[in-house]
Amino acid sequence: MTNPLYRKHIISIPDFSREELELVVATAASLKAAPRNDLLRGRLIASCFFEPSTRTRLSFETSVQRLGGTVIGFSDGANTSAKKGETLADTIKIISSYTDAVVMRHPKEGAARLASEFSAVPVINGGDGANQHPTQTLLDLFTIRETQGRLDKLSLAFVGDLKYGRTVHSLAQALSLFDCHFYFVAPDALAMPDYLCEELDEKGIAYTLCDSLEEVIPLVDILYMTRVQRERFDEAEFKKIQGQYVLRADMFRHARDNLRVLHPLPRVDEITPDVDATPYAYYFEQAKNGVFARQALLALVLNETV
Ligand code: CP
Repeated sequence: MTNPLYRKHIISIPDFSREELELVVATAASLKAAPRNDLLRGRLIASCFFEPSTRTRLSFETSVQRLGGTVIGFSDGANTSAKKGETLADTIKIISSYTDAVVMRHPKEGAARLASEFSAVPVINGGDGANQHPTQTLLDLFTIRETQGRLDKLSLAFVGDLKYGRTVHSLAQALSLFDCHFYFVAPDALAMPDYLCEELDEKGIAYTLCDSLEEVIPLVDILYMTRVQRERFDEAEFKKIQGQYVLRADMFRHARDNLRVLHPLPRVDEITPDVDATPYAYYFEQAKNGVFARQALLALVLNETV
């Protein structure tokens, strides 16, 4: 039977069903347990990054090469003909005529959706502005399943920049299919956007708004920390909220044993380095899981059966 993600564009988490998310997570687990080097043999993938990235770009490129495929692309849109005024639509028409799939990160919300309308091959969104980061969500789901043994009926706190943090938008939408409880811990200026809270309300998903990071630590299975996205707003505003929520190793006194701290990375100062040595820190393993989740996604999009 053809897998449901075959030849699909991967643009936004709300495009996924619960079963499709579970399929990616299960495939990632299989690939972590038993690596494959044949699933992309003979395939050429474009890696088009118009915005900086370490993990997303390099884990995608690692995934392709470890699965037997090859990569072309760029890590800076300023080195492409976009600099001469070429439209994104034309750029994508050309790149998709050379390759079997296009992985793309772009600073503008909606850019990946637009690209998919002009692409001859599947487009995979590696982050579009403050909107969505679906492949980060897939690796987050895989990591949550790996650490908690399940995805449903968990308590999670999202901490920090919930306004511009595209990873928390995508993850909250994904977990809304799994009957979880959310705690949103953010300064007022960086609160979860209204449209996302309204989506949760419509689905009857419980969430609690909190001021205190220390108060939520004993209540949750996953503490999902985020960086304040300095590049997305005004410097004076940034200075006001910088350092408001900082996680330190001495804050885990009443934590559950199964608590794991995740962070999409890069971190700046929101998790002090002493947390790294605690049994709760899981963000580096999470980043490593990016390879397995992206391998799973590429394999499913480019193979009828996996
Ligand atoms: N988590 C994440 O998207 O990291 P990069 O910006 O380094 O890709």
